[in-house]
Amino acid sequence: MREPEVGAPPAGRVPGRSRAGPHAAGASTDALVGPGAPVAAIDTPALVIDADAMERNLERMAAFARAHGMRLRPHAKMHKSALIARLQMAAGAVGVCVQKTSEAEALAGAGVNDIYISNEVVDPAKLARVAALAARVRLAIAVDSELGIERLAAALRAAASRMDVFVEVDVGHGRCGVPPSSAGVLAQHVAAHEAMRFAGLQAYHGGAQHLRGAAEREAALHRVVTLARSAQAAVTAAGIACPLVTGAGTGSFVFEAASGVYGELQVGSYLFMDRDYADNEPAHAAPRFEHALFVKSQVMSAGLSHAVIDAGHKSHAIDSGPPRVWGRDGLAYVNGGDEHGILRRADAATPVPLPALGETVWLVPGHCDPTVNLHERYVVVRGGLEHGVVEALWPVDARGCVG
Ligand SMILES: Cc1ncc(COP(=O)(O)O)c(C=O)c1O
Repeated sequence: MREPEVGAPPAGRVPGRSRAGPHAAGASTDALVGPGAPVAAIDTPALVIDADAMERNLERMAAFARAHGMRLRPHAKMHKSALIARLQMAAGAVGVCVQKTSEAEALAGAGVNDIYISNEVVDPAKLARVAALAARVRLAIAVDSELGIERLAAALRAAASRMDVFVEVDVGHGRCGVPPSSAGVLAQHVAAHEAMRFAGLQAYHGGAQHLRGAAEREAALHRVVTLARSAQAAVTAAGIACPLVTGAGTGSFVFEAASGVYGELQVGSYLFMDRDYADNEPAHAAPRFEHALFVKSQVMSAGLSHAVIDAGHKSHAIDSGPPRVWGRDGLAYVNGGDEHGILRRADAATPVPLPALGETVWLVPGHCDPTVNLHERYVVVRGGLEHGVVEALWPVDARGCVG
């Protein structure tokens, strides 16, 4: 857990850097730049937020949720930053989601006061931490087993705390969640405990987010919504009111919003928009999101037919494919190992220039979530990647919080 930033960020604007010194946002000793420094002074490799693009993304999603009467609870597993969570809440989000107990603890410790762990926890020691945290902030959690409910109830009793509980339904992903027909029975189990409020259903389909065609995603979400609706009916038939269905990701939220079943959107990646999401064909009704997260790198070795940059897969995740080389059409990133990236011409017949030794190269990560987890801090830039200046350094508060 990292030391919290001081003071709440002003609504709609990123806050300035609130600490100084070489150890400002973590224990690393690499060269740090301060506010006002030109982009050129940022040491490489560095995780950089284009603040202007991020704010536009933030506002576009907030406006979409408002216009569609949806609650917005963005997923903070993506950015792992209390400052960003508070910016999202200042723009209208009701709170944030996380996946892990330690993420919830890190964000709560840095001032986030409304958190939903959209995932199952069954380990009693961890549940004791969940129950202790529920006494400090508004906290909710997902369950998908009677054992999980009983263990959570025991932990809440021991801590004399209460919390909201969502029953997770498997809506086709084949990961966590009970079949829709079992949702009513589990909701009854939750409602039987004094320390728990049955808050509704979690119905999220991760696999559907990255189907490339918009029509393909729409068809997949039609099946998801049908399953969510039948789970809702099972809960009602069990004599329990179902206050909310929560779910959705950046690839699908327009369909959940149009469903009449969902009341809350858990979108995460829209804020930074990685290469993998940009490869999706956007849905007609979706706002357009811009790339706002980059890895700044530089050429450290130049060959005749390739250039080598100082950002390998310790700087950006490659689980969803390679990063895009930003602003340099015709160049492809080839994995060069832990610390190196190799740039080649995508089409050998097209002689696009290779960047020269020492030149800056901006990468758009293939997948933002695991990329963020590799870094101690964000360097926040205002005014664009070319001529902008550093506005702040923000800690990645929940970096490494995977348990
Ligand atoms: C439960 C849950 N909800 C929401 C999201 C947000 O998805 P995205 O970052 O694709 O918008 C995720 C991402 O994996 C998730 O696991």
